[in-house]
Amino acid sequence: MEKLRREVFEKFERYHQEQVFRFWDELGEEERLNLCRQAERIDLIRLSEMIDALIEKGKGHFVRADSPLMPANYIGLPYDETSRYRWEDAYNLGEQVLGDGRVAVLTAAGGQGTRLGFEGPKGTFAVTPVKGKSLFQVFAEKIRFAEKRYGHPIHWFIMTSDRNHNETIEFFGKNDSFGLTNVHFMRQGQLAAVDMKGRIMLEDRGRIAMHPDGHGGAFRAFVASGAGAMLDGQGVDVISYFHVDNPLVCAIDPYFIGFHEKNNAQMSSRMVLKQYPEEKMGVFCSLYGRTAVVEYTDFPMERAIERDRSGTLRFKAGNIGVHIFNSNFFRLLGTEMSGRQLPLHAAKKRIPTVDTDGKIVDPAAPNGIKFEAFIFDALQFAERSIVVEGNRREIFSPIKNSVGLDSPETCRQDQVRLFSKWLVEAGSDIPIDATGRPPFNIEVSPLFADNGRDFLMKWNFLESRPAIASGSYIG
Ligand code: UD1
Repeated sequence: MEKLRREVFEKFERYHQEQVFRFWDELGEEERLNLCRQAERIDLIRLSEMIDALIEKGKGHFVRADSPLMPANYIGLPYDETSRYRWEDAYNLGEQVLGDGRVAVLTAAGGQGTRLGFEGPKGTFAVTPVKGKSLFQVFAEKIRFAEKRYGHPIHWFIMTSDRNHNETIEFFGKNDSFGLTNVHFMRQGQLAAVDMKGRIMLEDRGRIAMHPDGHGGAFRAFVASGAGAMLDGQGVDVISYFHVDNPLVCAIDPYFIGFHEKNNAQMSSRMVLKQYPEEKMGVFCSLYGRTAVVEYTDFPMERAIERDRSGTLRFKAGNIGVHIFNSNFFRLLGTEMSGRQLPLHAAKKRIPTVDTDGKIVDPAAPNGIKFEAFIFDALQFAERSIVVEGNRREIFSPIKNSVGLDSPETCRQDQVRLFSKWLVEAGSDIPIDATGRPPFNIEVSPLFADNGRDFLMKWNFLESRPAIASGSYIG
């Protein structure tokens, strides 16, 4: 213990962070040991580089209004015979990749759901309009559907964080992993929060204020948890990645996988059209010849409002947090010595901390800075990457806020709209309003179909089709 104490004290003094030990004399033996252990794991070199760049030199924003930003190229939705052929071709190729058992799924579920005001892991939140299934159950059923269809077990990696790891595992335990046998949990890393002057903060007298390291932590978590090595020799080289907050996501999408394969991409991204300049979406851009996502908080508004001659937004390729990675590329980014380190982004936040007397205070305004790595920054290391458009109504309706935009209510409505669209396309005379919604809730299980194409096939082959009414569940 004494040796460890000396080492961390010296290290923290060298980086002018000795305030972390200011309550040392008041701590018990165990608290001292825990604090030293926590301190030992903090990468002070990386942290001081960030503090230096972001706080002292004020380089928080990577993009300026006069940066040479261009809209990114993307593969658009099919609109004519040729493009329809291209999409069909991609679909067939994607089915082949899936049939060969080359695909694993990874969900980033380490976030805290603060805006939603939900205490538990976000994946346990009930989302579907009739059955109230959780986000995790919806994804699990999508995976089970694909396992059955393609005849292979599919590995599903779920990234958790210290704050929700145990609860997440318990939830899966209670639900028998929703019938899946290949669910793996990987805990993301943590970073220390600093105050506005760059000093590491304490959340209690003997505990450093730590937070999850952002979804960009997925690369390291994948390697550190042994997930990467586990896939060795199994022929899995495609990782389908998505955020936990969007139940409409095509978790396993033959079209997208096919485009990724055809272009021999290391990283592929899905986009939908951004609706208005202020929409809280990162945008796919081309910057210095490379594709990049510029996050909404960093996007200069004078550029976000630019429109082309037809009046559409110039920067319209909205990020939805859905990507496909080549597994070697994914592992490389998670390997510490690879020389490919994601940048960290800084955000001012309200961080509960201790006052001079060691009393815990919950501040009313931002009092500190959290650093996070973003998954999409991997684009800067990809030699081959593509962006593929998706139809927003079919693949994107996230739950972010408790009310209003992107809330449980808008998400339920979007799900009902999508299920109704499939029914209408399959010839059902379900009554819908101008926005495509019936006057009641219905639900289609992903175990029945997860897209319009499969729905049509299944529905047409049903011996007796159920009458659709309020609360109908097609499972
Ligand atoms: C995100 C995107 C934004 C995109 C928008 C669309 C980022 C930084 N921004 O914004 O470009 O247009 O979604 O929906 O992603 N997560 C972790 N661990 C963490 C932090 C987050 O697993 O440490 C997960 C969360 O559980 C969540 C997801 O990542 O599911 C997205 O993170 P969030 O902070 O909610 O990003 P948004 O601001 O919604």
